[in-house]
Amino acid sequence: MHVLVTGGAGYIGSHTCLCLLEEGFSVTVIDNFCNSSPEALRRVQALAGRSLTLIKGDVRDAATLDAAFAGPRIDAVIHFAGLKAVGESVAEPMLYYDNNVAGTFNLLQAMQRAKVSTVVFSSSATVYGDPAPEDLPLEETSPTGITHSPYATSKWMVERCLADLHTAQPQWRIARLRYFNPVGAHPSGRIGENPSGTPNNLMPFISQVACGTRPMLSIFGGDYPTHDGTGVRDYIHVMDLAEGHVATLKYLANRPNGDLLTLNLGTGQGCSVLDVVKAFEAASGQTVPYQIVARRPGDVPAYYADSTQAQELLHWKAKRTLHDMCADTWRWQAANPKGYASE
Ligand code: NAD
Ligand code: UD1
Repeated sequence: MHVLVTGGAGYIGSHTCLCLLEEGFSVTVIDNFCNSSPEALRRVQALAGRSLTLIKGDVRDAATLDAAFAGPRIDAVIHFAGLKAVGESVAEPMLYYDNNVAGTFNLLQAMQRAKVSTVVFSSSATVYGDPAPEDLPLEETSPTGITHSPYATSKWMVERCLADLHTAQPQWRIARLRYFNPVGAHPSGRIGENPSGTPNNLMPFISQVACGTRPMLSIFGGDYPTHDGTGVRDYIHVMDLAEGHVATLKYLANRPNGDLLTLNLGTGQGCSVLDVVKAFEAASGQTVPYQIVARRPGDVPAYYADSTQAQELLHWKAKRTLHDMCADTWRWQAANPKGYASE
């Protein structure tokens, strides 16, 4: 099977490309490197001992896509390419609608022209908005669409578009995967998350504090209605997530009459910020100084997934622990303090 991976040089994409190559898939990546480095894919190929085809280009460019589909027959697309910084999306909504929504429409149109109708889309738990405590754990049927940022709205809009496409043309094989909080790195320490500038997300911030790049972690809020007052999330190891994509492709390959899958990819376990800090200290042997500060606007107290659907349909389960997530993040961070710019 030949898979076109958009955004394959990024954090989740690079780990997924490695799993695909190791499982024997042929891989073509399209990436414009707006938030990644070609070095990630060099390392992916070295780890896999196999090569992939790389096209430097933008999913908003129809000619680039048509050229990709004109090459060796592509059987399926995994669509990671997009922008993901929530705060930036509030400041620059049109950039997000252009990249995430128009970019996806452009991709789907190119797929139609090429008669490729299997696609796995990177959605996000953010489509659930601010869930009520009684909605936890979040099921795929939990309410969506009351979103709080253009980023979240862009994911929800694409989800709707894919559902409409499937209604009109039921032969499409579509998976809408709602990721919870991906963290961790490949256990080799060769590939991992490579944020530019100050990280917005918890795990890369903690790891930069642990290696001394930043002096202290600010914990946003200590008075949430959670077991220790700090925010609770469902952290999932990026390798579990990557394996979930391979399992999804295998599942869709056996749906000759089409399908529309909507699946949560999480562990089902809620961990607080302090749980993560303690686990990171234990895994790394480093101290992570922190202070508790005001809540971050737009944050929700707690959310975590019900992932039983993915387990039943895909025979996939997130199996790595919080300790694994922290140990693997630390191995990557310690060996690559400046990310891919370290070498
Ligand atoms: P990332 O930024 O590391 O990877 C995205 C990749 O897409 C990058 O390599 C970037 O250069 C590329 N890209 C962006 N716009 C492009 C375009 N127009 N044309 C071609 N390439 C383009 O992000 P990630 O964490 O790997 O996330 C992958 C996908 O999963 C995104 O769609 C993101 O919204 C979604 N997602 C991520 C998270 C998370 O926490 N990481 C959570 C939920 C959903
Ligand atoms: C954020 C995004 C979400 C995206 C997710 C995936 C927002 C509002 N949401 O979710 O759309 O899908 O990332 O990674 O940005 N925290 C601190 N200090 C920090 C950083 C974070 O205390 O320096 C806390 C947060 O308050 C939260 C938890 O850590 O309780 C996780 O935060 P983060 O990693 O940013 O993820 P989310 O906010 O869950």
